[in-house]
Amino acid sequence: MDGAGAEDERNGGIGTNGTKRTETATTVNHERSKEQDMGDMNAATGETRDPATIHQPVLLDDCVRLVTSGLAKAAHPVVVDCTLGLAGHATAFLKAAPNARLVGIDRDAEALALATERMGREGLADRFIPVHAAFDEFTDALDAHGIGRVDAAFMDLGLSSLQIDETDRGFSYSHDAPLDMRMDVSQPLTAARVLAEYDERALTRIFRTYGEEKFSKPIAREIVRRRQEHGPLATSAQLNALVDEVIPKAHRPAGNPAKRVFQALRIEVNGELDKLARTLPQIALRLGAHGRIVVESYHSLEDKTVKSFMAQGLKADVPPDMPVVPPDARPFFRELTRGALKADEAEIAANPRSASVRLRAVELTRPLPERIIERFERDTRPGETACDGRGTSARRRRGGRN
Ligand SMILES: C[S@@+](CC[C@H](N)C(=O)[O-])C[C@H]1O[C@@H](n2cnc3c(N)ncnc32)[C@H](O)[C@@H]1O
Repeated sequence: MDGAGAEDERNGGIGTNGTKRTETATTVNHERSKEQDMGDMNAATGETRDPATIHQPVLLDDCVRLVTSGLAKAAHPVVVDCTLGLAGHATAFLKAAPNARLVGIDRDAEALALATERMGREGLADRFIPVHAAFDEFTDALDAHGIGRVDAAFMDLGLSSLQIDETDRGFSYSHDAPLDMRMDVSQPLTAARVLAEYDERALTRIFRTYGEEKFSKPIAREIVRRRQEHGPLATSAQLNALVDEVIPKAHRPAGNPAKRVFQALRIEVNGELDKLARTLPQIALRLGAHGRIVVESYHSLEDKTVKSFMAQGLKADVPPDMPVVPPDARPFFRELTRGALKADEAEIAANPRSASVRLRAVELTRPLPERIIERFERDTRPGETACDGRGTSARRRRGGRN
């Protein structure tokens, strides 16, 4: 399994899975109709954006097979794409399952608008329900649309190429920009605030846990010292320069020395691991008979969270020396992927961001036992999960993110 720092170098260490943006995706295409251009024009830049070319879905065929192969049996199947992005996977799911409806959740309003436009253009709008929310609002989002049971839920974690390309959002260390890094620009916590407000211990923990950065402590110490003397860091260039000064030349990782720090900040700002750990049990609680959970991760801690969640249902919940397994303790998931699927060399060559993908999928084999329901209900509550082994206590101490 890749370590956190193994995320693709070319995307700024940001753990995403898009593909390079092509020229045609960003330049105005004069052959398109005015209506088309109005539909997907970026208001800020006036550039035309075609979602189908901005972001290339990773392991698309495998995802389509895993998500849709059981749906034909259901009368009115419901699929939830918890990370809709630009709807590359979602449009393929709807095309492969003509009897299905799809709820598409994304916390990025711009991605949601582009995906909705694409659904309309591809004739899929009548089976598509867009939801602007973070995926840990899964249960509320379904309730709001009167949806009880789900036949398949899909997650393609990380950022879309749209977000990476928007250099003003500060996700990438390769462009000088304000230290923002929010996927949902309406949330108050930014990377600049983390760097300005967290104490040395909290910064060290974030860099070490989410970035696996060996020099976490001296980097955190220098950030605190610098802000006391000169005021807080405001831009990615300032953060790059600071990390560059702290990490000794002989210990530099390949590529940009600040990539792990940027990655760690992005995970913290967006609460990515907490949200993931709170969402998986919500999904399981809503699965119908033979319902499926299919997840693509790009970071070792994400994959670990997914793997350990799924493992709860893949083996009997009894001590190894117990001669008989009571019915209540039998497995309730069936593994569909035999460990994690990875991208092959051809896909990695065509789309370098697929290099770190780990795809895992399970199917519900029987109703969840009562004690698992209780556990999952508890695990969906904020502050109850412990995805990094420390829960959210450090964040609560700081009165951090919301
Ligand atoms: C890798 S992209 C998905 C790309 C999509 N599968 C496609 O083919 O176009 C991940 C998307 O998930 C969204 N996202 C990340 N974390 C989220 C969260 N906690 N809640 C909702 N959306 C989230 C991001 O805004 C981004 O648009």
